[in-house]
Amino acid sequence: MALHKKVEEQETDAELEINPIYFREKTCEIPRYRLAEHGVLPRTALQVVRDELILDGNARLNLATFVTTWMEPEAELLMAETAAKNMIDKDEYPQTAELERRCVNILGSLWNAQAGSDATGTSTTGSSEACMLGGMALLWRWREQQRAAGRDTNRPNLVMGSNVQVCWEKFCRYWQVEPRYVPMVPQRLHLRGAEAAARCDENTIGVVAIMGSTMDGSYEPVKEISESLDQLQAGHGWDIPVHVDGASGGFVAPFLQPDLEWDFRVPRVASINTSGHKYGLVYPGVGWVVWRNSQALPGDLIFRVNYLGGEMPTFALNFSRPGAQVAAQYYNFIRLGDAGYRHVQQTCQDVALYLSGEIAKMGPFELLSEGRDLPVFAFKLRDDITAYSVFDLSERLRERGWQVPAYTFPEAMTDTAVMRIVIRNGFSRDLAGLLLDDLRLHVRALERNPQKQPPPEVQKKRQSFTH
Ligand SMILES: Cc1ncc(COP(=O)(O)O)c(C=O)c1O
Repeated sequence: MALHKKVEEQETDAELEINPIYFREKTCEIPRYRLAEHGVLPRTALQVVRDELILDGNARLNLATFVTTWMEPEAELLMAETAAKNMIDKDEYPQTAELERRCVNILGSLWNAQAGSDATGTSTTGSSEACMLGGMALLWRWREQQRAAGRDTNRPNLVMGSNVQVCWEKFCRYWQVEPRYVPMVPQRLHLRGAEAAARCDENTIGVVAIMGSTMDGSYEPVKEISESLDQLQAGHGWDIPVHVDGASGGFVAPFLQPDLEWDFRVPRVASINTSGHKYGLVYPGVGWVVWRNSQALPGDLIFRVNYLGGEMPTFALNFSRPGAQVAAQYYNFIRLGDAGYRHVQQTCQDVALYLSGEIAKMGPFELLSEGRDLPVFAFKLRDDITAYSVFDLSERLRERGWQVPAYTFPEAMTDTAVMRIVIRNGFSRDLAGLLLDDLRLHVRALERNPQKQPPPEVQKKRQSFTH
């Protein structure tokens, strides 16, 4: 989470201004950065906190985030009822543990884990933790193999596209693994098999393939990547596993592209993660990671906690965590079933394709993706449009609350600035129509009033978007 510096009280207004009709107490003093001597009534506290949060953005108009912003009232009720259950306390809350087990099994079958394969998985706080666990399993497995062969274990590397989410950079920094990024180029906006294989060697702990890319929503070709690694193994003997980062796609591909082979049907796929709080349709934070079999998950990483007088194996970076998200994930599974999830994801994709199609027709834009993989697409201005930038458009859209991020692509394509739209459950075709009206309005206004653009070196550094 964000790092916050200690604030000196004289630097800022020391106390919150409380509307006098909010409180029944004689006085109400709430210092901003330290505890008050006395508390306030529950209603006053509720009102004060709510007022602060009004300034946050409107989730319905947020086309930047992948994360769920709407759940049914019944799910919200269930989450409120289960917030106090501690996920780690398997002894006290065995049924919460049972729901987690069912969810792992449901995901295992959605991802075609083979019967009798010993596939194993767990819930996490989100995909970042799940990726961290997936990466650790790759690292531990590689180290064990290197040691067994009497080889050096000091220089592990991980191969991935430069379009990976920041959690992979974090994994590499925290675990001292060399990140080997395959840069994006205009004709190839994500990782392909040949480029991945070209960067592997005997110190490669694994290759990360993303379903789909945070940059433009496209799926990386897991099967092709895996086949290139098969060829590498035939030539050099290196058996390099693939981890699939299905933060979003893990909950989309099984429903929208059931014939696409990207999961445990591909023998080299050792592990898969997803975010329950993205297209799994649960409020933040819940993620999942599943390993193909026990060889893919070294026993050294497993800790045991008390469970009904026995022991339950666990693998996590943190300890205590609310059980509410896991209960809500299970709620969604039984509430929606296969057909319900397919319907939700298909509706999102229909809206994405409609919106990208209309944006393509507008004239000044070029699509980089259409929303055919994830219901997510990216677009840029045509090269001859210089009177304004996507950053100008993003700022203008913000005036009515639309959050449509503009960002530059990573290294090797930093002069490409794009906008990205993520269609989530609840973003209707009607809302899409309103967004199109506003977009057209701003394009016309900007064409009439050209904007002075910063020099290219400043433009390149304009915000890159990492979630
Ligand atoms: C491909 C990918 N991996 C990992 C993450 C991190 O996910 P989380 O926010 O669930 O930690 C994201 C988030 O957008 C993502 O898109």
